[in-house]
Amino acid sequence: EKGGYAHFTIKEIYEQPKALKDTMTSRIIPGEKIRLDDIHISKDMLTNYSRIYIVACGTAYHAGLIGKVAIENLARIPVEVDVASEFRYRNPIIDHKTLLITISQSGETADTLAVLRESQTKGARVIAITNVVGSSIAREADDVFYTWAGPEIGVASTKAYLTMLVAVYSIALHFAELLGTEETSYLEEIKKEMLTLPEKVAKILKDTTKIEHFADKIHGEKDVFYLGRGLDYQIAVEASLKLKELSYIHSEAYPGGELKHGSIALIEEGISVITSLTQRELFEKMQSNIKEVVSRGAKVMAITYEDNKDVEKYSDEVIYIPNTMDIIAPILAVVPTQLLAYYVSLYKGLDVDKPRNLAKSVTVE
Ligand code: F6R
Repeated sequence: EKGGYAHFTIKEIYEQPKALKDTMTSRIIPGEKIRLDDIHISKDMLTNYSRIYIVACGTAYHAGLIGKVAIENLARIPVEVDVASEFRYRNPIIDHKTLLITISQSGETADTLAVLRESQTKGARVIAITNVVGSSIAREADDVFYTWAGPEIGVASTKAYLTMLVAVYSIALHFAELLGTEETSYLEEIKKEMLTLPEKVAKILKDTTKIEHFADKIHGEKDVFYLGRGLDYQIAVEASLKLKELSYIHSEAYPGGELKHGSIALIEEGISVITSLTQRELFEKMQSNIKEVVSRGAKVMAITYEDNKDVEKYSDEVIYIPNTMDIIAPILAVVPTQLLAYYVSLYKGLDVDKPRNLAKSVTVE
């Protein structure tokens, strides 16, 4: 059932090109408007919403962080993102002018389901992004986006996360089309580029030797840092969680600009820092952050576009990903970080498919 792979986790990482394709086919068609058959929100309804909340847990929450950037940038609607177990208890402002987007692979996460129910009671409309057809969250939501990633067995989410990203980008594009907030040609360019991503992910998966090498280097460590700016920060947050779950190494993700506000105190000789540079506007700023940690003795692994060779000058290891549009780069940049977490787990001889203390579906609060 693992199809020749040693673990479900690596099988599912390698299934990502197909999962992406399945999620996009029939929804993203060049020259046509985005087709979301199970989302019934008109332009008038959308104009009426004063705010959007994206609420989820764990990795799904991390997909939500990227959803906020996508929706705000493309559709210009304010979005707040929160973890379900916090959102519920902070007396959020919810009424009929609220659109809630919940994200859940399993569709059964207790806190996320409770947020859905409580918000509907207060008049909000709910879109569910989920991977499981007929799950509680799918059944109770007003609108649904099925991620069609196929069954995910590995406890740590990989392919489901990548397809959640497709979901939030598709919804952002759909809203932008409804509201006319962006030039059609720019939206078309994003759609066309999204359709190239399955092949680009496949290219990243073809040669993992450099990532395995870095995994070997860091597998004995106690602390690892992830740094990023803009969407690279959202990637850092997910990458850091994946490493924690799969390798039991403590890690923290920081926005590059926050370093000097405290965490740089922890950077010392030999500490590992993992970063990605996919936001061209922020390259220079990120470069100076990397130089700051290198000058304090950090070992740096950077993930960047294949045409950004400059990064080799100040990093120990550079993992190249195919060039793409910055706004959708997370779909590519997260893949090497999944592989890194997987290989570190292997080097440590851990149970990669079933990390200790974790459950695939968290149905208790
Ligand atoms: C991370 C992971 C968890 C889940 C979280 C939400 O790899 O697996 O953080 O993402 O428990 O689960 P769903 O998406 O099923 O609501």
